[in-house]
Amino acid sequence: MNRVNNKVALVTGGGSGIGRASCCLLAQAGAKVFVTDINQMALDETVEIIVSSGGLATGVHQDVTDEGRWDEVMSLLLDAYGKLDILVNNAGISGVGLPPIEEASLASFQKVTAINLDSVFLGTQKAVLAMKDSGGSIINISSVMGIVGGAGPAYNASKGGVRLLTKSVAVHCGTMGYNIRVNSVHPGYIWTPLVENIFEHVGVDNLTEDGFREMLTEKHPIGRLGVAEDIAKGVLFLASDDSSFMTGSELVIDGGYTAV
Ligand SMILES: NC(=O)c1ccc[n+]([C@@H]2O[C@H](COP(=O)([O-])OP(=O)(O)OC[C@H]3O[C@@H](n4cnc5c(N)ncnc54)[C@H](O)[C@@H]3O)[C@@H](O)[C@H]2O)c1
Repeated sequence: MNRVNNKVALVTGGGSGIGRASCCLLAQAGAKVFVTDINQMALDETVEIIVSSGGLATGVHQDVTDEGRWDEVMSLLLDAYGKLDILVNNAGISGVGLPPIEEASLASFQKVTAINLDSVFLGTQKAVLAMKDSGGSIINISSVMGIVGGAGPAYNASKGGVRLLTKSVAVHCGTMGYNIRVNSVHPGYIWTPLVENIFEHVGVDNLTEDGFREMLTEKHPIGRLGVAEDIAKGVLFLASDDSSFMTGSELVIDGGYTAV
């Protein structure tokens, strides 16, 4: 408990899945959490969950692809809390339903990379500026699909980009003497609305939902799919001083998906 006591955390995409679980766990561990999401109702629910259990949270609407909004969000956060200690760049989409490389349009590719990768560039840049004198931890949610292929060019490219953007900024921060750690997290399949939506959207090979879950489970040697809290625990570890010797690293939390 209290592993991030009095730290200020900003979590994007905090209205659902991994983002919501991370907000809740960070708050339970003592952080003041700034929750942002493009879905106002969802982010309000996350704030309500935290506040009703005695935690501290503020919710702000944000489209992470909008650079001007990033500046406004950072101003609101610094006005409210005076500092930023932890940024979790979590908001993302799966890109489900996009055609294969032969048929994909550049616009469809760029829609996914704007949300999954450009936003991480923007958030990381704003966080480095806010943290360079005081230090902090930046946590970028990539994927096993940032390490191996299999999810389509746009999603794989965006998540692979997050992985190396993270290492690049980690090296820069170390070289500059900023006390800022920058790490990526690589979840396997986690049963969240993002994955449920893959099933609903493409109805994978006429499988039932149970069959779809079973097919995904078989890819994880540990014998189950992940839950959002599995990833939130990794986020809390990277946010806390327990990981003080980690920067530029990739925390793989995947039930063995990439070990096969
Ligand atoms: N679920 C998985 O299996 C899995 C695996 C690996 C990586 N990830 C990554 O984890 C992150 C969270 O995924 P999740 O599974 O919790 O998904 P989710 O769909 O449950 O949550 C994603 C959240 O991001 C928000 N969002 C989407 N576009 C946004 C935008 N432009 N601006 C602000 N917010 C936006 C959504 O409203 C939603 O609340 C994503 O980056 C995803 O790629 C998920």
